[in-house]
Amino acid sequence: MILLSALFITAVSSHDKSSAQKLADPNYGPIPGQSSLYSSYRGKAPPFPGNITDPIAPTAKGSPGTDDLVWQNLLSAEWVIFSFYQQAVEMFNETAFVEAGYPNTTYDRIQEIRDNEAGHLRIFQNEITPTSVKPGACKYAFPFDNPTSFLALATLIEISSMTFLTGLVQMAKLPASQGAMTAIAATETRHETWALLDIWKTNPFGGPSDTVFPYANQILDVTNAFIVPKSCPSENPVYPSPRQNLPPFAPASSTKSISPGSNIVLNFTDPTNQPSFHKGVQYYATFFHGPSNISVPVDTTHWPREDIKVEIPSQFEARGIILAVIADIVGAPTLASVKAGPVILLEQPAELGLLVT
Ligand SMILES: *[C@@H]1O[C@H](CO)[C@@H](O)[C@H](O)[C@H]1NC(C)=O
Ligand SMILES: *[C@@H]1O[C@H](CO)[C@@H](O)[C@H](O)[C@H]1NC(C)=O
Ligand SMILES: *[C@@H]1O[C@H](CO)[C@@H](O)[C@H](O)[C@H]1NC(C)=O
Ligand SMILES: *[C@@H]1O[C@H](CO)[C@@H](O)[C@H](O)[C@H]1NC(C)=O
Ligand SMILES: *[C@@H]1O[C@H](CO)[C@@H](O)[C@H](O)[C@H]1NC(C)=O
Repeated sequence: MILLSALFITAVSSHDKSSAQKLADPNYGPIPGQSSLYSSYRGKAPPFPGNITDPIAPTAKGSPGTDDLVWQNLLSAEWVIFSFYQQAVEMFNETAFVEAGYPNTTYDRIQEIRDNEAGHLRIFQNEITPTSVKPGACKYAFPFDNPTSFLALATLIEISSMTFLTGLVQMAKLPASQGAMTAIAATETRHETWALLDIWKTNPFGGPSDTVFPYANQILDVTNAFIVPKSCPSENPVYPSPRQNLPPFAPASSTKSISPGSNIVLNFTDPTNQPSFHKGVQYYATFFHGPSNISVPVDTTHWPREDIKVEIPSQFEARGIILAVIADIVGAPTLASVKAGPVILLEQPAELGLLVT
């Protein structure tokens, strides 16, 4: 349920195919880890390579590299995340955050996170081999219009990034890709830790393990909600690929709390993409938290006449996130057993949970 409304739309910038094509050379432009641009650049104009939004065409013929598909998915996701921060940098300034009660360093940190995300764009472009297209930016619309709604959504996006990386790591085949993705997940964790400490003034730790979820593309698919329909370059591959296009759900407005032990009422939020529950099949809400999952049977027989209600397992520690899907097998052990979702329930800080979920 997104209570934060009002949309702010910007196209990132330049459309010039020849400048995009220069990016096919990994040595073109500032190099992540060697240039301070990806930490220290300050300004409202998008930093490289966020200032060049066209897709980069393949420069060699042949079959795609082993992990190209995973990196293409990650690059498309990164355009969403980079643009989220870039729009905030353009919309706000230091005073806006101070007046909203946040530390006077907040705007500076947001610019630095934006710069890190630009570095991710460049890293992911370089990880895709020359035989595959490197996806460009679409147009994005995010549900924030003030510093608090922005920071709340940023907290959810960072921790969701950590979780989908735990899945992408499992989809990648090359150890080098897996190592690079682990390093990116760690970067998102640093962003999250900063927000918990400085913004939300809470315990920065999320328990012994953040949440592991193997079906990363299902989480990436949820970010399609931020992409302006039909705004992606035609050269971009389907995002995410492969795409299941599962019916999304969120806690309905009657849900009082999303803490462990509370009941959530499921709202299947897309009228054009509703689930089809078969008679005689037992469905489960499978909840993932930390390294494990717990399934709770759900009664779908009278849906949609009667709401589906389910208790969030009370065993779970109220830290980090709980991720929930609807599955037709206990434990959602296969991709195809997932029939709806996922929804990400933010547990920390608890007061943001229902606001951003
Ligand atoms: C993008 O930024 C880079 C580095 O800051 C700059 O060299 C380049 O000219 C810019 N390109 C465009 C198209 O704005
Ligand atoms: C931020 O923007 C507001 C409104 O446009 C302006 O009054 C204020 O001086 C700006 N603050 C800074 C630090 O630029
Ligand atoms: C920022 O806030 C800190 C304390 O919260 C204060 O010591 C410092 O002077 C402030 N800096 C500016 C530039 O206002
Ligand atoms: C269900 O979601 C839709 C779409 O976001 C929203 O318009 C509607 O108010 C929600 N219904 C409830 C009962 O929460
Ligand atoms: C959920 O947990 C069960 C039992 O440990 C496991 O068999 C299953 O693979 C897990 N599901 C996923 C999607 O990891």
